[in-house]
Amino acid sequence: MIKFYHTGDSNLPYNMRPMQPEDIAQVIEIDREAFPTIWPPTDYSRELKNPLACCLVTIDDQKTAPEPRVPPVPESGLSRLISRFQRLFKGNRFPSAEPPHSDSHYIVGFASMWVITDEGHVTNIAVREPYRRQGIGELMLLAVIDKAREYKANVVTLEVRASNTAAQRLYRKYGFNQVGLRRGYYMDNKEDAVLMTTEDINSAPFQSRIQQLKQTLSTKLEIT
Ligand SMILES: CC(C)(COP(=O)(O)OP(=O)(O)OC[C@H]1O[C@@H](n2cnc3c(N)ncnc32)[C@H](O)[C@@H]1OP(=O)(O)O)[C@@H](O)C(=O)NCCC(=O)NCCS
Repeated sequence: MIKFYHTGDSNLPYNMRPMQPEDIAQVIEIDREAFPTIWPPTDYSRELKNPLACCLVTIDDQKTAPEPRVPPVPESGLSRLISRFQRLFKGNRFPSAEPPHSDSHYIVGFASMWVITDEGHVTNIAVREPYRRQGIGELMLLAVIDKAREYKANVVTLEVRASNTAAQRLYRKYGFNQVGLRRGYYMDNKEDAVLMTTEDINSAPFQSRIQQLKQTLSTKLEIT
């Protein structure tokens, strides 16, 4: 299990790790709660096979998962074969360095990003409603930014609904600025998309801001 921003003796109740096929049912549950009007939902089994994608989940260590309400998307014989090859060659950008985990991990949030050349693009981030406003969104955004650096990206970009002020505040807190607007971008209600990007994530000012935010978040999570 990957521990982010804290050591083994920490009291933090959350852990993050790469998303696994077994997580998809819970991830879809969170996706449906967060983005009910987007149809069809993202195909996370395809994302897991995408060599450009990084997908992570946050787990509540103190809770076990109930039986999934949404069945995982069944894999065809060919997909199973492709998965086996990709596991062999570690296709996903979040290759699991850990042994297979238990199905009972309770997932409280997930995030995904594509890294294309020098740009990390956050494709999704969501937290279960009862777990919001506790810093989990921040925790995952930090992990995504760290991962983008690891894969030699210089900037992180994203699109967010114009009405989604909560998410925009989160992104602004982490140094994302609006750089454009895509009119009528979202198919369901023709809402505009706000394009946001960071400055150079490897620059000293950006890293200093991130270190400060990590510190504050770490304290906040320990208290929570
Ligand atoms: C956006 C989302 C991922 C944030 O996750 P979260 O765990 O609740 O956020 P955090 O507790 O880490 O909040 C971090 C910061 O985000 C901002 N923020 C988060 N929720 C907010 C809200 N409801 N209102 C105002 N600001 C909010 C604040 O700046 C907050 O910092 P603060 O606590 O110092 O004020 C979560 O609200 C969510 O899952 N929403 C539905 C899915 C979604 O819209 N995803 C974004 C798609 S682009």
